[in-house]
Amino acid sequence: MFGMIHRSARDMVLKLFGPVAWDQILDEAGLDDGAFVSAQSYPDEVTFRLITTAATKAGLTVDETLQAFGRHWIEAADEGPYANVMRVLGSSLLESLMNLDRMHASIQIAMPGAQLPQFAVVSHDEQTIELSYYSRRAGLEQFVCGLLEGLMGRFHQQGSVGFSGMVGEARMFTVTLAAPVNA
Ligand code: HEM
Repeated sequence: MFGMIHRSARDMVLKLFGPVAWDQILDEAGLDDGAFVSAQSYPDEVTFRLITTAATKAGLTVDETLQAFGRHWIEAADEGPYANVMRVLGSSLLESLMNLDRMHASIQIAMPGAQLPQFAVVSHDEQTIELSYYSRRAGLEQFVCGLLEGLMGRFHQQGSVGFSGMVGEARMFTVTLAAPVNA
């Protein structure tokens, strides 16, 4: 994955555990600054090694770490160089989810080497949104849950997110809001 993902993981570790823990993680993962150039692509194995080592260090499972990283990515995107991308993504949770594919497609133009996921809103009502997610990568379901939780938080909405299984090639997610959107 692109170095921008690694940089964001580094920021999360620095924020939660500080620079000493980060140096230990780099050491244990056998990585150095070379893997953190934003606009450069690295083998997924490097990204997964980074996440797995950080999980062990934090005493969390890989899934818990991926989920925390998803939430962090959204919070950080809102504050950093991607703030504009987040702003135009949508003015509500539903609109943002409907625009996810368009947003990633525009990133694909700037980063032709990126393997971006595809999302679609399959159905929705005032309190529930069902989404499909396609990726060539496996094992990122909890990352998606964290990202969706981050987006909910961005619009000050309470609720829960769950992976609800596969339908063909699609991984399905359900966002359940604590209160109807128009309430
Ligand atoms: C400022 C906002 C965002 C930017 C700039 C961005 C950009 C990117 C980039 C560059 C990658 C890595 C692709 C690669 O290295 O091959 C990626 C991956 C991913 N993005 Fe986004 N993204 C953003 C927001 C979101 C949001 C809001 C979601 C979902 C709710 C999302 C879901 C994902 C997922 C699940 C992946 C992992 C790749 C995979 O599933 O195969 N992203 N994104």
